[in-house]
Amino acid sequence: MDRQEVYGNLKISRDSGPKGSSPSSLPQEVCQGPPWRQFALKLGCTGVILLVLIVIKLTVSVILTQNSSIERCSVDVQQNRNETTESPSPLECLEPWQSFQDKCLLFSTIRKPWKSSLVDCSTKQSSLLLIQDQEKLRQIQMQIKDEGISFWIGLNFTLPEKKWKWINGSFLNPATLEINGDHKENSCVYITQTSAFSEHCSEDYQWICQKEGTPIKNKVHPTS
Ligand SMILES: *[C@@H]1O[C@H](CO)[C@@H](O)[C@H](O)[C@H]1NC(C)=O
Ligand SMILES: *[C@@H]1O[C@H](CO)[C@@H](O)[C@H](O)[C@H]1NC(C)=O
Ligand SMILES: *[C@@H]1O[C@H](CO)[C@@H](O)[C@H](O)[C@H]1NC(C)=O
Repeated sequence: MDRQEVYGNLKISRDSGPKGSSPSSLPQEVCQGPPWRQFALKLGCTGVILLVLIVIKLTVSVILTQNSSIERCSVDVQQNRNETTESPSPLECLEPWQSFQDKCLLFSTIRKPWKSSLVDCSTKQSSLLLIQDQEKLRQIQMQIKDEGISFWIGLNFTLPEKKWKWINGSFLNPATLEINGDHKENSCVYITQTSAFSEHCSEDYQWICQKEGTPIKNKVHPTS
């Protein structure tokens, strides 16, 4: 009984609602008038919608091109920065250092015992010369201008191993370097234009320091 009553009420209230308040009837009232007026209204609405769409599309494309040109711009800036920080070359050997492949070399002009030359190179943030192979030795010997000059390199005879040892801690591979002279305690190695010799480490000779070539950006920003 109750349910039927409610249904009946609902039905009544729906049927008896004022016709004008239904939403679908509103535009009819607005668009009433001569047919040309309705047509003009429709045309106007379509035009407005089209205009809005065009404006949205233009706005979006403007934003997109702005973004991509900003990106391009920042890439350009980065490329420029890379160029300026790494040019003119990854190597910078300041006078009197001379660039040799990936290193900077310094040929001393004075003569000192081997230990003093070792100290001199380390005070210059470098080390006595290390030679990787026969080819490197040959190329470095070609840099020696004067036939009569001898240069200490970073190689000495170590105990208790009784072996030649580079100052970086590696033992000499005999294929790298043939050493003329005694193989004994307190001997150090010097090179000339043509050969390598062992000599008592207290003798005075010139020497060759080496250091890695430093990219300019490392010099400008040592901590980065
Ligand atoms: C610039 O150099 C940095 C690191 O050196 C690198 O990560 C970046 O990709 C380079 N940028 C360009 C545009 O070459
Ligand atoms: C030490 O130097 C020698 C000669 O240049 C090289 O053959 C060796 O690999 C180096 N050792 C280390 C640990 O860098
Ligand atoms: C050889 O050189 C090392 C440094 O690399 C040094 O500690 C050592 O005392 C030297 N050996 C001799 C016999 O002078």
